[in-house]
Amino acid sequence: MARTALVTGGSRGIGAAISKALKAEGHNVAATYAGNDGAAAKFTEETGIKTYKWNVGSYEESKAGIARVEEDLGPIDIVVANAGITRDAPFHKMSPEQWQEVIDTNLTGVFNTIHPIWPGMRERGFGRIVVISSINGQKGQFAQVNYAATKAGDLGIVKSLAQEGAAKGITANAVCPGYIATEMVMAVPEKVRESIIGMIPAGRLGEPEEIARCVTFLSSDDAGFINGSTISANGGQFFV
Ligand SMILES: NC(=O)c1ccc[n+]([C@@H]2O[C@H](COP(=O)([O-])OP(=O)(O)OC[C@H]3O[C@@H](n4cnc5c(N)ncnc54)[C@H](OP(=O)(O)O)[C@@H]3O)[C@@H](O)[C@H]2O)c1
Repeated sequence: MARTALVTGGSRGIGAAISKALKAEGHNVAATYAGNDGAAAKFTEETGIKTYKWNVGSYEESKAGIARVEEDLGPIDIVVANAGITRDAPFHKMSPEQWQEVIDTNLTGVFNTIHPIWPGMRERGFGRIVVISSINGQKGQFAQVNYAATKAGDLGIVKSLAQEGAAKGITANAVCPGYIATEMVMAVPEKVRESIIGMIPAGRLGEPEEIARCVTFLSSDDAGFINGSTISANGGQFFV
């Protein structure tokens, strides 16, 4: 069934692959972004998917942006909380600003994205929520105290929402990607990237489309009995 889907950070990287995959499933898709107007315009030109600009770290901006999307495309049935950032530093060098920026985007941003959509999902008796967490929220990571805290927190959000939404036809699940070949990962020095690949039993980085396929499955009408779960897609790097 064709539904309306919102993908935060849906104009680049993993989010862009998710937006395209949901469109290919026949859904009406809105993709958001934070500031890279050029990338968003190019994405819309190439895919026909409408993009919307707001900071997921702001509740007011999220609420107003979501209202605009619902005005344009109708009530949102599928929400993919994907927008995320890194501000890495070893803990002894991590500034309060680096901590806060990552908390605001990766954790509060998930609250800000889902909370305004939740009442409508409850009223309509249907919803699919997918949060993009990370392998590093499952296992922790050197120089990522801030990032790992948010990604572990995202799993707590999903497990709690699963319990609150189940009776209303709403599911909430998480995908924990391992290292995926996006700008975020390709930006790390080649030597570091090679050492990361050395830790992945599959011997390669993942592709954004491999994460997108997890999302289309979890957001389908058929996935109604899968709730509060986490799909790890990491090439065998870490088992929970
Ligand atoms: N890449 C990986 O290996 C990997 C592994 C595990 C988990 N993840 C998670 O997967 C998600 C996507 O990662 P990616 O590698 O695809 O990232 P990316 O290529 O850097 O793209 C990030 C997207 O999020 C948007 N965004 C960033 N901050 C935002 C904010 N405050 N408000 C609204 N939008 C914002 C960006 O908008 P602009 O274009 O305007 O900047 C962009 O569209 C993240 O949550 C990340 O933590 C990634």
